[in-house]
Amino acid sequence: MHVVHIAVEMAPIAKVGGLGDIVTSLSRAVQDLNHNVNIVFPKYDCLKFEHVTDFHYQRCYSWGGTEIEVWFGKVEGLSVYFLDPQNGFFSTGCVYGCGNDAQRFGFFCHAALEFLHQSGFHPDIIHCHDWSSAPVAWLLKDHYMHYDGLSKSRVVFTIHNLEFGAHFIAKAMVYADKATTVSHTYSKEVAGNPAIAPHLHKFHGILNGIDLDIWDPFNDTFIPVSYNSENVIEGKQAAKKALQQRLGLKNSDLPLVGIISRLTHQKGIHLIKHAISRTLELNGQVVLLGSAPDPRIQNDFVNLANQLHSSHADRARLCLNYDEPLSHLIYAGSDFILVPSIFEPCGLTQLTAMRYGSIPVVRKTGGLYDTVFDVDNDKARAEAQGLESNGFNFDGADGSGVDYALNRAITAWYGARDWFNSLCKTVMEQDWSWNRPALEYIELYHATKKY
Ligand code: ADP
Ligand code: GLC
Repeated sequence: MHVVHIAVEMAPIAKVGGLGDIVTSLSRAVQDLNHNVNIVFPKYDCLKFEHVTDFHYQRCYSWGGTEIEVWFGKVEGLSVYFLDPQNGFFSTGCVYGCGNDAQRFGFFCHAALEFLHQSGFHPDIIHCHDWSSAPVAWLLKDHYMHYDGLSKSRVVFTIHNLEFGAHFIAKAMVYADKATTVSHTYSKEVAGNPAIAPHLHKFHGILNGIDLDIWDPFNDTFIPVSYNSENVIEGKQAAKKALQQRLGLKNSDLPLVGIISRLTHQKGIHLIKHAISRTLELNGQVVLLGSAPDPRIQNDFVNLANQLHSSHADRARLCLNYDEPLSHLIYAGSDFILVPSIFEPCGLTQLTAMRYGSIPVVRKTGGLYDTVFDVDNDKARAEAQGLESNGFNFDGADGSGVDYALNRAITAWYGARDWFNSLCKTVMEQDWSWNRPALEYIELYHATKKY
């Protein structure tokens, strides 16, 4: 089968959040199962070109009165076609936030289909993602259905987050042959949304996976000691020490709560703040790595960081930027990774946490509900999935919910260390990779062809 993704985020060359991780990791998983996968992507001037190999110019074509250069390169083993329209749309220094994003990405979607058409591609599936490549769904049907190459192509549209671009998403839902979202529970949570409700017959929840090669504590150059579930405690202790040293925290064995997050309403900002003070009250350490697109929220956290720097310099550090290498060290060096989201379509941080033997503490919503099973309350629900319970969770969206989960987590760390250490081993051995979800996507792609 030939699958082409048309997307505007891709890890590690242009990652803003989980969408970028998924475009790369899903593509790699499907390619590993012997399917032909390509990606069509904007040639942003801010691409991390150091991660692109075999990069070369291919040709130029014209669409919409604009010359568009086509470049080719390999990213994490994937063949990527980079489109560089000579109208400056992708020479803005950023992926999003240019004021005319809808126009830029609308142009890109049409240019991408025109590229496929002019290049004689015959993909079975064109897979587009979120509002930013949603126009692919209707542009294909409106403009390319009568051309040989693309007339048999079918569109799969994945919603990673319904919060953004509601109008685009609603329209793509009408035109897409199949639509997915990134966890089963989120698919149920949004089933009543007016954009989704009329299309439930073609709408499926498929859980995201993580790429085990990219997130691998046994082969991770950003952490001091390689580890797997056999030497997880030793590996995590070394990582905790390195993290404490790097951030100037007290170098002692305290329960360390890590938070790695975009700082937006979705991620439960008030709960994050509450958890920071609660952790400190419980004599833990806390490290936050995050950045806020909204300058008011960013300023608020800068103030909190300064405050904590004077009151708890040895036990709290807020790093208010985007730092991929540091994120690896936090996943490895933390005892707990906190994800108190108000809503979460899937969430990758809790999955990556488990891959690094860190225990997730999460709010029960969307994909967090589907992947984290409370050690006290969810044994039966975990068993029904063939799993052991693997973390701590809570319901409410106020401080008492956070307290309920954090108190139990930190108390267990202090009072039941052997049990806690065996939990770290258990979560590391659980499979949150693409092994299963990739097969579900392939099945869906096959079903889409017959649609
Ligand atoms: P979302 O896509 O809603 O932001 P996900 O949990 O799906 O949430 O994915 C977030 C991804 O971005 C994860 O890979 C996480 O490690 C990464 N991430 C988030 N914030 C930062 C940051 N400040 N620095 C480095 N990586 C980050
Ligand atoms: C979105 C969601 C997140 C999901 C990610 C990848 O950004 O907020 O929950 O994990 O997309 O699908």
